[in-house]
Amino acid sequence: MSDEETPTPSPIRDVLIVGASRGLGRAIAEAYADRGARVVGTVRNPDSEPPTGVETERLDLTDPAQIAALRARLDGRRFDLLFVVAGVSLAPRWQAGAETSDDDFDTVMRTNVLGVMRTVEALQDLVDPAGTIAVMSSGQGSVANNTSGGFEVYRASKAALNQLFRSYAARHADDARSLLLLAPGWVQTGMGGPGAPLTIDESVPALLNTIDRRRGVAGLAYLDRNGDTVAW
Ligand SMILES: NC(=O)c1ccc[n+]([C@@H]2O[C@H](COP(=O)([O-])OP(=O)(O)OC[C@H]3O[C@@H](n4cnc5c(N)ncnc54)[C@H](OP(=O)(O)O)[C@@H]3O)[C@@H](O)[C@H]2O)c1
Repeated sequence: MSDEETPTPSPIRDVLIVGASRGLGRAIAEAYADRGARVVGTVRNPDSEPPTGVETERLDLTDPAQIAALRARLDGRRFDLLFVVAGVSLAPRWQAGAETSDDDFDTVMRTNVLGVMRTVEALQDLVDPAGTIAVMSSGQGSVANNTSGGFEVYRASKAALNQLFRSYAARHADDARSLLLLAPGWVQTGMGGPGAPLTIDESVPALLNTIDRRRGVAGLAYLDRNGDTVAW
């Protein structure tokens, strides 16, 4: 099929971003709002400065009662895109996984794995049958590409997230929706730090283009911001 014959996917008009208080999630929510989409963005702390042009909801995704309450408040809404962006990384880069404190391990896993997947499961029925469910993974979630080590528990959390989202996709094999695990690159945010090679403005537009290009393509993909496949 030539480019001229490729059907233009319908625009993303209604968007739900989980983790929109700062960093990548905030920038993604504001970028969709700038495009004219109706955007709901969740923040954990109600005192957070709301993202510009975004309807703000509250969610700490480690609290199942808050997930259920958000689902109830959004009842009857329909989204073209659900993007769960929230995540944490706690340990210093070169701390061995076995040296991580129980509390840090629990927080990273409950947030990046259990909280993210509970949020997906609870909110997925609000997503249009031809829509997109995206989850922010990381290149560090790739087991195959881990030759350098570092950020051991964070890496493990993203690999576990990838595995659970892959199982979700297997359970929804007949689903027409686009299911995306996305790796934004190493970006200058609170998590990425000021020395990261990419700015938010270098990562977020590329991510949005990749989401656009996968719109209407059923099934799971693990992609970097440019749309290239990441090895599992
Ligand atoms: N920056 C990078 O280089 C990079 C690379 C690969 C992947 N990622 C992933 O991209 C995502 C965003 O990261 P970022 O760089 O933008 O980090 P960030 O600036 O530290 O922002 C993290 C976001 O996650 C939210 N969050 C954390 N725990 C939460 C919880 N329990 N419930 C709800 N929200 C929670 C934070 O909310 P609060 O404001 O309330 O803390 C904040 O909005 C993460 O999943 C991260 O793993 C980042």
